[in-house]
Amino acid sequence: MSDAFTPAGITHYLPPDFLAMSLRRDVLAGLGKSPKTLPPKWFYDQRGSQLFERITLLEEYYPTRAEREALELHAEDIAAAAPAETLMELGSGSSRKTPLLLDALAAAGPLRRYIAVDVSDSALIAARKELAALYPALDLEAVAADFEHQLHLLPHEGCRMIAFLGGTIGNFEPEDRHQFLRSIRDCLRPGEGSLLIGTDLVKPPSVLVPAYDDAEGVTAEFNRNVLRVLNAELGADFDVDAFEHVALWNEREEWIEMRLRATRPMRVRLPGVDLEVDFAAGEDLRTEISAKFRPERFAADLDEAGFGVVGQWTDAAGRFGLTLAEPR
Ligand code: AVJ
Repeated sequence: MSDAFTPAGITHYLPPDFLAMSLRRDVLAGLGKSPKTLPPKWFYDQRGSQLFERITLLEEYYPTRAEREALELHAEDIAAAAPAETLMELGSGSSRKTPLLLDALAAAGPLRRYIAVDVSDSALIAARKELAALYPALDLEAVAADFEHQLHLLPHEGCRMIAFLGGTIGNFEPEDRHQFLRSIRDCLRPGEGSLLIGTDLVKPPSVLVPAYDDAEGVTAEFNRNVLRVLNAELGADFDVDAFEHVALWNEREEWIEMRLRATRPMRVRLPGVDLEVDFAAGEDLRTEISAKFRPERFAADLDEAGFGVVGQWTDAAGRFGLTLAEPR
């Protein structure tokens, strides 16, 4: 992450120390409060991005396959309803599902440009390489950015579709989600853009919990990776193996929570932020919420943020939703 701004091929919209600064801010705010939390974006260094890629291949983790299926079934309808010159994808990761949208948008109209926005420069570089081979005529841009706070810095011109896939919207707390949808609304002009969002849908905990606590333990390693990131970036001395992976379904909020549970009392030093934190035995650090949605309620959320919903689609089994919206 500290080298996020140097690799060739990544567009430099951002102040060079931005990610380092926001990591420090997030760590100070999150570990300084009770209960302790960390935002999930810091999972995704090179190793974390690779672990997430492995998660998407797990039997238990259905969202990636379900979203892909929904796009296979409905990308054509989506593109017909919202043709665009530019596809800008927030949290693009490996961009593995992007070709489904690019192909549909190219068939529907004047697609010229794809902009990938992600916090992981290793993911951006790999994705760019794959897409360049598939789409030699497309203008490809990769932007290392924190899309939650820097949307206003990203390119604005032309008729755009902003895509936010993978169910990552579920990582936001409700109030932050509302702010985020508003900030997207503010960078689109009515008649000149659309928003396509993927949302994992509410389903029984017997399906949801194993998706976040797989038998092989890949998700557990992914979860603990955030501590490795803090060790590497802030010189912290977390004993990574002394934390246990916990995934639970919060019925009231309708979200999955991932936590790291201290298996013994610990004092952790984080020299990069000049901080020492104590963990009691059994104390939890919450590392992620992954909210699950109901289509009607999500349409109401979008309405509240100034969008009108154009259409909603799912995979055949109704596990994962795609919502297309336009600014009102
Ligand atoms: C990429 C944020 C959508 O919440 O399902 C996978 C990340 N966390 N397993 C999700 C994740 C644990 C994933 N998102």
